[in-house]
Amino acid sequence: MTASVIDRIGLLVTNDPALGEGELGIVRDAALVIEDGRVAAVEPAGVEADERLDAAGRCVVPGFVDSHTHLIFAGDRAEEFAARMAGAPYEAGGIAVTTEATRAADDEELRLLARSRRDEALAAGITHQEIKSGYGLTVESEARLCRLAAELTDDVTFLGAHLVPPEYEGRVDEYVELVCGEMLTACAPHSKWIDVFCERGAFDEDQSRGVLEAGAEAGLGLRVHGNQLGPGPGVRLAVEMGAASVDHCTYLDDTDIEALAGSETVATYLPATDFSTRQPYPDARRAIDAGVSIAIATNTNPGSSYTTSMSFCIALAVRDMGMTIEEALAAATIGGARALRREDIGHLAPGARADAVVLKAAHYVDPVYRPGVPPAREVLRNGAVALGDQR
Ligand code: NIG
Repeated sequence: MTASVIDRIGLLVTNDPALGEGELGIVRDAALVIEDGRVAAVEPAGVEADERLDAAGRCVVPGFVDSHTHLIFAGDRAEEFAARMAGAPYEAGGIAVTTEATRAADDEELRLLARSRRDEALAAGITHQEIKSGYGLTVESEARLCRLAAELTDDVTFLGAHLVPPEYEGRVDEYVELVCGEMLTACAPHSKWIDVFCERGAFDEDQSRGVLEAGAEAGLGLRVHGNQLGPGPGVRLAVEMGAASVDHCTYLDDTDIEALAGSETVATYLPATDFSTRQPYPDARRAIDAGVSIAIATNTNPGSSYTTSMSFCIALAVRDMGMTIEEALAAATIGGARALRREDIGHLAPGARADAVVLKAAHYVDPVYRPGVPPAREVLRNGAVALGDQR
């Protein structure tokens, strides 16, 4: 007898080509054996166990790894979204609206809001999230957001360099100094990563480099928001600095693709953002064919991407970015894990964290085939059912 098992899996996606067919490592008629929250073995169906979850022929995939979220904030920007749908452009300055609401909220309010978004993401099959600060923009407020984020994940990102707050208008260099000094000192103990919004209207190349250098000096891993609103230096800077990931990548030229292809930096696409800001979808095919390592994430935030649906993002990537269903599924699971430089999640090989989604359907095509429909029947995190029986 073993601790627990998901049995009678029709199609198991392991993301380990050594275990099964193709890049997704597909095993048919399988059982996933789980011990102490980890995958212990992949066996043929029909395993005896103390606890047994019957998948009854359904498809099981690794839990989605969401490597880019801004989960902790107060207020919403529904009116800004509606104006955009009526033709107004997206502008980075909207971040200030959420900053004002977030500064005004107390810890308990922010905690409850973030937890309800985390639960919504779990129901969507997301078993791990990176969470950024970035809507505080003062020393105390950024430290508070990092501390609250650390209650929900071990992938916390300090994003004090999200926007220059109104009280520093015209004094960008002074604000960058604050971010790289006192604010970093207050936030680093709660964080694993540092990020910077390297974009017109936010921080330029030199300012962004300064933020990344200070973060690296403090022992944090590097991430970059780049090439979101137009062509720019973000991607090349991320590669130069050895960042784990550069996110958005909506506007990439040949030099950017070339730089990414020869690097350890993952290009993370955020297609729900391009949807919600009415931007063009990037050509992921071009990057994949050039050998770029890619991920897909939700970018949950109230301004540019107010969704926790990874399957919506996967569907957009397949429909509009030139990716196959298999590539998009891999990008939302093991791709996200690579963007966070983690080997314990995003796949279901023995030793991995037992984070898995029992889909409602027998095939992994379902999240794309049925856009807008929540795909999970059960979600397991660390081997325990975190969300059960969504029939
Ligand atoms: O990733 N680009 C910068 N930050 C967020 C947007 C935040 C906002 O508009 O509130 C993003 O899209």
